[in-house]
Amino acid sequence: MGLLIRSSFVQLSLALLAIASPVEQRERGTIAKRQDGTYSCKCYEGDDCWPTKAAWSTLSTAVGGRLEKVVPVAAVCYNEFEGIPTYDAEECAQVTENYSNEQWQTDQQVLNLWDYWTNTTCLPTDNPEASCTLGYYPEYVIMAETASDVKAGIDFARENNVRLIIRNTGHDFLGRSTGYGSLAINTHSFKDMEYMKHYISPGGEYEGSALKIGAGVQGVDIYSLLNKQDPPQVFIGGECATVGIAGGYIQGGGHGPLSTLYGMAADQALEFEVITADGEFRSVSAVNNPDLFWALKGGGPATYAAVLSVTVKTFDDTKAAGFTLDLNTTHTTNADLFWKGVEIFHSYSNHWIENGMMVYFEIYSGNMFRVHPAVGPNMTAEQLQTLAQPVMDELDAAGVPYDYAIKEFGSFYDLYMELFEPEPVPQTALVGGRIFAKADIADYNAEIVQGYRSGIDGDAGNMLYIGHVVGPGVGKPEADNAIHPTWRQASTFTITSLAVPVGANLTQKRTLQDYLNEKVDGPLIAASPNGAAYVNEGNLEEPNWQEAYWGFKYPRLYELKKKWDPEHVFYARTTPGTEAWEVIDTNTRLCKKL
Ligand SMILES: Cc1cc2nc3c(=O)[nH]c(=O)nc-3n(C[C@H](O)[C@H](O)[C@H](O)COP(=O)(O)OP(=O)(O)OC[C@H]3O[C@@H](n4cnc5c(N)ncnc54)[C@H](O)[C@@H]3O)c2cc1C
Ligand SMILES: *[C@@H]1O[C@H](CO)[C@@H](O)[C@H](O)[C@H]1NC(C)=O
Ligand SMILES: *[C@@H]1O[C@H](CO)[C@@H](O)[C@H](O)[C@H]1NC(C)=O
Ligand SMILES: *[C@@H]1O[C@H](CO)[C@@H](O)[C@H](O)[C@H]1NC(C)=O
Ligand SMILES: *[C@@H]1O[C@H](CO)[C@@H](O)[C@H](O)[C@H]1NC(C)=O
Ligand SMILES: *[C@@H]1O[C@H](CO)[C@@H](O)[C@H](O)[C@H]1NC(C)=O
Repeated sequence: MGLLIRSSFVQLSLALLAIASPVEQRERGTIAKRQDGTYSCKCYEGDDCWPTKAAWSTLSTAVGGRLEKVVPVAAVCYNEFEGIPTYDAEECAQVTENYSNEQWQTDQQVLNLWDYWTNTTCLPTDNPEASCTLGYYPEYVIMAETASDVKAGIDFARENNVRLIIRNTGHDFLGRSTGYGSLAINTHSFKDMEYMKHYISPGGEYEGSALKIGAGVQGVDIYSLLNKQDPPQVFIGGECATVGIAGGYIQGGGHGPLSTLYGMAADQALEFEVITADGEFRSVSAVNNPDLFWALKGGGPATYAAVLSVTVKTFDDTKAAGFTLDLNTTHTTNADLFWKGVEIFHSYSNHWIENGMMVYFEIYSGNMFRVHPAVGPNMTAEQLQTLAQPVMDELDAAGVPYDYAIKEFGSFYDLYMELFEPEPVPQTALVGGRIFAKADIADYNAEIVQGYRSGIDGDAGNMLYIGHVVGPGVGKPEADNAIHPTWRQASTFTITSLAVPVGANLTQKRTLQDYLNEKVDGPLIAASPNGAAYVNEGNLEEPNWQEAYWGFKYPRLYELKKKWDPEHVFYARTTPGTEAWEVIDTNTRLCKKL
């Protein structure tokens, strides 16, 4: 029957409506009976309902030959992949060398920067005898170049009940841009950018400068294009230059170095062009499909539609000043003194945001604290120094030693290019995090920092906290969207990251996830009664994730998922409406619990 459905889906599915039983009609996948219940699953290779070679080849023709069978890029370091000889010493050397390059990683077909989620079954190696398998990478990928390629992929996935993944840069910390046995659509080549000095939004509520960007555009492309305008412009992008903007970043909310002044990335969106789950191209704005517009602005990545482009506000660039601060074992080996320093610095979070600043910091195992950098937009070094002086006085009074440097820049752009650093990639790590509200910092700063300390002290040296002191409510952005309301009260958002050894077995992985839940995120949740969590940089096992990620906005998001993607063509874990869905059989089959 599966074969017939595939050969001419539309006519046959109509015919089937008449003859099939209600369960068969609804579920074109497979039924899986497991100990904890019965599931209806998407179709996987080897299942009767998996598309035939002919069906894949029809898809390939529809996308101009841009459908590729996924072969992990590091297969060139192994003798064979799926029975085909793949070894090439020279190519292997290149892949190995480039593997730690962030931009190179994002340019690949399906790589994931946080490669824990690929199951790390084909990493570069100098042992060609080892085995290279697909792990949790997709089976096929469409290297999309046109809207019609994206539509073809969505239609194919929907009609054949195959899991669909949209892969933009592969930055997702939670593995949501990869998936076992899936068809991926890679949007990396959607690189168009158009700056509009005098733009009017479709509903007329915004008049000013704006930028339209394709789905594949990365932060760094935009920062440099905007810098060339007259007057030079800035926008809300991430702290990391290679993160995409129109994909997961804006759909999850998106914070950045200028968010205290202008708000979240989702506050900047003026229009989207998308393909929805039914395969239709749609313009989305305050006047066209306004409910979808609201949901796309922070309601969750890969949930409501495949975004082709987004138009965002831009702002005049200004001068800026930044400082860096280091406190580590070079300065003191006294752990209590180290943590006293962290506590003092952290207690100034509200102070920084109330003055329009953003501060990026890292705390990691081995008593390492790095502030690289603190950003003072539209400030001279003298103005920033005045703001930094109280914290330095307090550190000095407590006898905490540290290194500090301050610098003034002609523009935020210059500061961004000089002071923000690339991230070491790839990383095999579990991620969580917590948004701390201003009231949490005011009342529970010591408890929060004690939470960091106990998380670091209790593990085997693999903990990293990445802090973003950012207040997206301070500048009072005018935007009605799906981001958690707590963002407007936020003072700091901290990512928690726990490294997992490559090759860890399932027991070790479970133990580390439990550690993250109970000993890392647990204490931070307990110490922040006013806090929330961030879907892009959160824990896949976040308790009450609906409330934690969206607060009172969740019920509306749930209804909109039912409206815009009733057949669950799109899926990302812990996004609206996915309660009944689960990736069973050790992170392989995506199924709906019946
Ligand atoms: C080094 C690093 C730094 C980061 N810095 C920041 C930061 O400063 N601020 C911040 O807010 N976040 C930051 N993030 C998190 C970032 O917001 C998320 O990882 C985000 O999901 C990345 O989106 P992407 O499209 O680039 O990545 P991808 O991994 O390609 O995609 C992420 C998710 O979005 C979906 N998606 C991608 N493209 C589309 C599309 N066109 N339509 C629909 N769904 C799509 C994917 O299916 C997936 O679920 C950072 C992440 C990393 C790894
Ligand atoms: C990859 O590495 C090779 C050297 O091995 C280098 O010549 C090449 O420029 C690199 N490519 C990219 C995209 O970084
Ligand atoms: C994923 O890795 C685990 C080991 O951590 C292994 O048991 C399992 O077979 C792998 N699955 C796939 C599909 O690669
Ligand atoms: C920068 O500061 C100046 C002087 O304080 C002020 O007039 C201007 O509005 C500020 N610019 C921005 C973009 O905030
Ligand atoms: C501590 O920070 C300083 C920068 O102030 C740096 O030079 C030094 O290498 C760091 N020490 C360690 C142990 O990382
Ligand atoms: C998993 O790995 C740990 C540490 O190497 C080991 O002690 C344990 O026996 C392994 N468990 C299984 C089920 O293989």
